[in-house]
Amino acid sequence: MRILSVVGARPQFVKLAPIAKAMEGRAEHVIVHTGQHYDELMSDVFFQDLGIPAPDYNLGVGSGKHGEQTGAMLAGLEKVFEESHPDVVLVYGDTNSTLAAALAAVKIHIPVAHLEAGLRSFNRRMPEEHNRVLTDHASDLLLSPTQVGMDHLATEGLAARSIMVGDVMTDVLYSVRDQLAAQSQPLPDGVTAGNYYVCTIHRPDNTDDPARLQAIVDSLGALSKPVLLLAHPRLRVLAESHGIDLNSGSLQLSEPLAYPQLVNAVANSAGVVTDSGGLQKEAFLLRVPCTTIRPETEWVETVELGWNVLVNDDLSLLAGAVERPVPAPTDDAAPYGDGHAAQRTVDALLETFAR
Ligand code: UD1
Repeated sequence: MRILSVVGARPQFVKLAPIAKAMEGRAEHVIVHTGQHYDELMSDVFFQDLGIPAPDYNLGVGSGKHGEQTGAMLAGLEKVFEESHPDVVLVYGDTNSTLAAALAAVKIHIPVAHLEAGLRSFNRRMPEEHNRVLTDHASDLLLSPTQVGMDHLATEGLAARSIMVGDVMTDVLYSVRDQLAAQSQPLPDGVTAGNYYVCTIHRPDNTDDPARLQAIVDSLGALSKPVLLLAHPRLRVLAESHGIDLNSGSLQLSEPLAYPQLVNAVANSAGVVTDSGGLQKEAFLLRVPCTTIRPETEWVETVELGWNVLVNDDLSLLAGAVERPVPAPTDDAAPYGDGHAAQRTVDALLETFAR
């Protein structure tokens, strides 16, 4: 059986790693990179560090407005699908690459499976929310990471196509954590264990309005420990165009980290401040307190279990949230699975789509 994975953005490379491994010897796996993320630190290092086979195709689509970017992917993917005749196209998460791949495949009658199905923020300002909803409704098999995701799919009438497999990000995080335990890694320059925060900010609602971004930067700069700001390229570009200094106060501007270095930096930090989806969960799995600069989260379990606090409109609450007392890591709640989600995903693909 031939399974074709489409990835394009950083979080998708992380999810692809355990899937590619679980696919070995069980199915033919074709990997297509749309080229949505193209910087070495946003793309290549993930393939190298996580042992992912080089993509069979790279469309080199790059950056652009939503329509331009998604449209270029649609046209490119259709050609690749016609050429490689997969039995199923596997799409990951909620980016423009996800939606383009789902749409390109269903229009030419190739079945689609969606990994990380059922997540909802119910925030219609987020491009990712539209990508999720549209991809779920177009797909033939919905592979959900959590019970909450399964419930959302059932509410939308999609229960018959849904199955819970767990979260593949747990698989990869646990395996990298175990490697780090066996061979420790140096911390990023200028920080000492337990005495810094790890921070990422890249969502349009936080970066595009200069006043909003300045307020966030000011609040981060006023924190009492160094804040390692792992700057996504879109943050750098926008800060520069708004004339905002990302190196002020406690902020310590840094390049994005490769995955093992990121896990190491989070595990040794006093906390995480972010608007990323993946990082909220990584912090939770490592039992590091997280503060999320967003009005809501798809990963509600992290909040319910006390490891994540949301701060949005009133940034004067940020310092209190970030510097809150750390809960004792005594709970063994595992809402994101047991680290074997990729195996279950491949089982489900083979059972559902084998000819
Ligand atoms: C995308 C995803 C988002 C995900 C994020 C992870 C969509 C709609 N959004 O957002 O869900 O959380 O990736 O990182 O798909 N850029 C570079 N080099 C790169 C990549 C991006 O310079 O390698 C810059 C470009 O200026 C580009 C901007 O970042 O215009 C935005 O990139 P894009 O892929 O459109 O969206 P992200 O913000 O990365």
